[in-house]
Amino acid sequence: MASNHRVPVIFLGVGNIGRTLLRQILEGKEVVARRTGLLLAPIVLADVSGVLLDPAGLPEEMLRAALEVTANGKLLKSVPGIQSLDRVIETLRPGVILVDMTATPKTMPTLLAAIETECGIVLANKIPLTTNWGTAEAFFEYPYLRYECTVGAGLPVIKTLRCLLDTDDEVEAIEGCLSGTLNYLCTRLEHHIPYSDAIAEAHDLGYTEPDPRDDLSGKDIARKVLILARTAGWEMEEADLTVEALYTESLANISVEEFMVAAPSLDVEYATRVRKAQSMGRTLRYVAHIDPEGSTVGLKPVDRDSPLGTLRGSDNYIALYTARYDESPLVISGPGAGPEVTAAGVMGDIIELAHQMIKK
Ligand SMILES: NC(=O)c1ccc[n+]([C@@H]2O[C@H](COP(=O)([O-])OP(=O)(O)OC[C@H]3O[C@@H](n4cnc5c(N)ncnc54)[C@H](OP(=O)(O)O)[C@@H]3O)[C@@H](O)[C@H]2O)c1
Repeated sequence: MASNHRVPVIFLGVGNIGRTLLRQILEGKEVVARRTGLLLAPIVLADVSGVLLDPAGLPEEMLRAALEVTANGKLLKSVPGIQSLDRVIETLRPGVILVDMTATPKTMPTLLAAIETECGIVLANKIPLTTNWGTAEAFFEYPYLRYECTVGAGLPVIKTLRCLLDTDDEVEAIEGCLSGTLNYLCTRLEHHIPYSDAIAEAHDLGYTEPDPRDDLSGKDIARKVLILARTAGWEMEEADLTVEALYTESLANISVEEFMVAAPSLDVEYATRVRKAQSMGRTLRYVAHIDPEGSTVGLKPVDRDSPLGTLRGSDNYIALYTARYDESPLVISGPGAGPEVTAAGVMGDIIELAHQMIKK
């Protein structure tokens, strides 16, 4: 592998995605090197407890030790050699790729410093791209940024959208189901499972966040919508989106346990909406619609035999309506979550960015 180009990679976050990416890099390094000419070399692993850091490349034994402790739910500080989190900044330099696989705004100063030092940046974290436009603009305008996994996990949504825009197509609207969890809920409702039972079921299966309202609020989808809109060149703010939460305001500020007890109070309302849709040959889906005028996200009756109506399980579906794809849209569909596909999508971003930076 002597002639391969070494790509130093900084991991911010070694949770589900970070850990899976680390394993995929270790397991796949020969294939990746043979096919791409790149040798991905983690130089920093960071979680809230600190960093493991070596600008020359962390030794494989240390990477394997980090994988083992984090897979057992422990923090990186259990691995000998941990240092303070603020040392990440020292490792930023051109040619390095910083990957944010956290879900926190706290990485923002490091990301802005990475732009200053001309590092590559890969985001799985949606927060930097969904803050107010005044702050987020710096990311959207930065040429060495990739963020494929912020929408549809490993599905090629952002690169497809960018390709359409780069080739002077005109994007007129984007529509789809962007939450596997809410699609699962919709398919259970259509089988006449009561709302509260469907939520309890999804919660027990680990499909929802620990607080199911984090999914039911639609806020995570609103973030994805904002990223799609801003990528399309529509400079929207969160306030421009109309988002329907799948619970009432009265259930917003109670504990998770109280919410689960109170959820049956909404069973009749959702069963009625499902029956009404079915009486017209339709079914309910949690649909996002985006166009230059704004965006709506919420439950919508769709034809039962349409692509959205037949969408099953936790799949995502994204339809791009453009000047060229006018009669039928360009469609991307498939699993929209999960560590394996998401980490692989992050690795794809790293590879693409590394090639772009080498050519510079
Ligand atoms: N899971 C999916 O299928 C999926 C799909 C697409 C996109 N994403 C996005 O990918 C990101 C990661 O998801 P995940 O499921 O891997 O989450 P996760 O398991 O909660 O992992 C988050 C990681 O970030 C670390 N972290 C938190 N604050 C940090 C800080 N200030 N500096 C450095 N590290 C910090 C956490 O450390 P501690 O463990 O020490 O707190 C943890 O290692 C999220 O933004 C998520 O929305 C996930």
